[in-house]
Amino acid sequence: MEARERSLRASIILCSPHGNTLKVAEAARKRLCDLGVHSLMVNLAGRGWDALRHFDYSEVLPADLLIFAFPVYAWRIVKPMEIILTNLPKSSNGSAGMLVTYGGCTSGRALMQAEELLSDKGYATLGAAKIVASHSNILEDDSYPLIPDPDVYRNHPDGRDMEAVNILITGIIDKLKTTDPPRITPAQLRPQFGLVRLMLRSPVYKRYGPSFPPGVRLDTGRCIRCGRCVTACPVNVIEMDEYPRRIGECIKCHNCKRVCPAGAIVSTGLWRKIVFHFGLQKIHELPSVKGEKPMTQVFI
Ligand SMILES: Cc1cc2nc3c(=O)[nH]c(=O)nc-3n(C[C@H](O)[C@H](O)[C@H](O)COP(=O)(O)O)c2cc1C
Ligand code: SF4
Ligand code: SF4
Repeated sequence: MEARERSLRASIILCSPHGNTLKVAEAARKRLCDLGVHSLMVNLAGRGWDALRHFDYSEVLPADLLIFAFPVYAWRIVKPMEIILTNLPKSSNGSAGMLVTYGGCTSGRALMQAEELLSDKGYATLGAAKIVASHSNILEDDSYPLIPDPDVYRNHPDGRDMEAVNILITGIIDKLKTTDPPRITPAQLRPQFGLVRLMLRSPVYKRYGPSFPPGVRLDTGRCIRCGRCVTACPVNVIEMDEYPRRIGECIKCHNCKRVCPAGAIVSTGLWRKIVFHFGLQKIHELPSVKGEKPMTQVFI
């Protein structure tokens, strides 16, 4: 057993457009290190869609444990990580963990979706955690008048959220040391609210859900052509011509808007913001207090 402990190797694959997931992934890595597990972290930031589709898995494999750390976008796995999970080479007895951040609205189907993809590839999910974090789409914008309850997600992840990361990692490593570690079942990870489950199954969600969050557009009149938006884009889809120009699919992370010193990048889709807001209120009202309960949760 001792020998096995010393030789354990873990790889953390990370997607964190706005930095919340990076914080929890770093906490996970520190915990792995404290437990004597050799780990490496591969950050998908700045890889364009082609690079994601042709990801070289030898960057993270072989490993005794793969940990996938990513945010929930529109109730699902953020798309760059969905590509990585979908193309993951099959394994005969792989072990995996998930570290998922979400903005206090709902983690939706993201955990269950990841478990299904991993299971298809022969990986057993030994543990998962959803961690509440500041909301990286328009809802963190103070000037936006329709914020439902920013305190639900503001100032997270905090110390208690980070403790959940420690519990997850410790639990997974303990399981890895046993001969037949029990895996997390899809039922444990299914969306918390009946209404959310119903909506996720609806054809309307399937068609429009992923494209629903507000996006961004450029106001060239204000642009000073500094190029900061180009380097801030996590999926590398902004190119500098005379003005910045989008050359590929945008994941609506709003990073370009955040870094722009001239206010030249603005949110789009007022009707989406309004429907989004009222939709969120409904979700928050469901369990009589706001949000999922508990907001941060470990499945082990
Ligand atoms: C386009 C977009 C969609 C999002 N969808 C959801 C959602 O469905 N539920 C939720 O609770 N938070 C949602 N969020 C908030 C993020 O999941 C949350 O802020 C997460 O911590 C961001 O991780 P990062 O900082 O590592 O990028 C969304 C954020 C963006 C940008
Ligand atoms: S264009 Fe802006 S909002 Fe879209 S993915 Fe790039 S940084 Fe994010
Ligand atoms: S960050 Fe703003 S000002 Fe700078 S190039 Fe991009 S849009 Fe223009």
